[in-house]
Amino acid sequence: LRFYKIDLVVVGPEEPLVKGIVDFLKNKKIKVFGPNKYAAKLEGSKAFMKKMCLQNKIPTAKFKVCKKIRDVKKFLMNCKLPIVVKADGLAAGKGVIICENKDEAEDALNSIFKDKTFGSAGNKVVIEDFLDGEEASFIAVVSKDKIIPLVTSQDHKAVGDGDVGLNTGGMGAYSPAPIVTDAIHKKILDEVMYPTMQGLIDEGTPYLGFLYAGLMIKDEKARLVEYNARFGDPECQPLMMRLGAQVLDLLIATSNGDLDECQISWADDHALCVVMASLGYPGKIKKGSIIKGVKNLSSSSSQMCFHAGTAKEANNLVANSGRVLSLTARGGTLAEA
Ligand code: AMP
Ligand code: GLY
Repeated sequence: LRFYKIDLVVVGPEEPLVKGIVDFLKNKKIKVFGPNKYAAKLEGSKAFMKKMCLQNKIPTAKFKVCKKIRDVKKFLMNCKLPIVVKADGLAAGKGVIICENKDEAEDALNSIFKDKTFGSAGNKVVIEDFLDGEEASFIAVVSKDKIIPLVTSQDHKAVGDGDVGLNTGGMGAYSPAPIVTDAIHKKILDEVMYPTMQGLIDEGTPYLGFLYAGLMIKDEKARLVEYNARFGDPECQPLMMRLGAQVLDLLIATSNGDLDECQISWADDHALCVVMASLGYPGKIKKGSIIKGVKNLSSSSSQMCFHAGTAKEANNLVANSGRVLSLTARGGTLAEA
């Protein structure tokens, strides 16, 4: 066993947040950046997220929460198509099923309720209208009643070039995202971010950490699709390239409750990352392919190779998950990046 003196814990993934690691560390008097268990329900429960939207008049798709197929039979008879069926809890990005017709919707519900495809994450289901438009990510640092929005970003969801194939966690991302115009930016802050922040203050559990809103944008309107209680992957990578080492100041100031004192400035250029994934992702993948050439890449403030799913095996660098590396670069224009 080795013991370390930990000054600050920054929690990356959603699962420990939703399970309450922040509350645990705070009890041990360890400084931590991330939302507590209750606030992390914004990501951990879609029904909770929808309730927040309703209570705080946050624009989102019309929805119904149900615990049994029986509850929604009538709703399905009269709903608009396509319709979106979502497991309530965390499902590693796989719990959303877009159904083109009622048979598909019934299949999705059977798979969640009867076959328990998502385990207890499927004890409840949210059924909601399909939102048309273009998706963008809006990420901010929130500390109680203060918000610092990060610069805009957008990830590329479909697995294939040309926006084809299955939805993924993100095959790449860039920043800035032109879809988030100044007008949309203001709307997202006023209609989504501030009401969410205030909603949690009203419930007595203010938010601390990165708050990520996934939005569908159409006709100058932004509607909330999801919250993440963390940074986005791969949105994080281009954003970090434009922020550099100042991110540490931001994390420390936030966890000290000094967000007011924190000044950050962003590189006034473009950053882009491309994810390298194992063959088969987002479906079944084969682990262990050998990765060559990473050592020859130079790392600098303008280009960086981030590791996501790599491991060392017999002196080789190998791929050990779906998304493996993200190659990230900055440039004066997006094309240059
Ligand atoms: P979620 O886990 O709720 O973010 O959903 C994952 C992905 O499913 C989103 O990034 C969207 O691409 C898609 N999606 C979720 N809900 C909707 C919706 N109501 N309308 C259209 N697409 C959706
Ligand atoms: N790129 C989307 C996410 O991190 O959930």
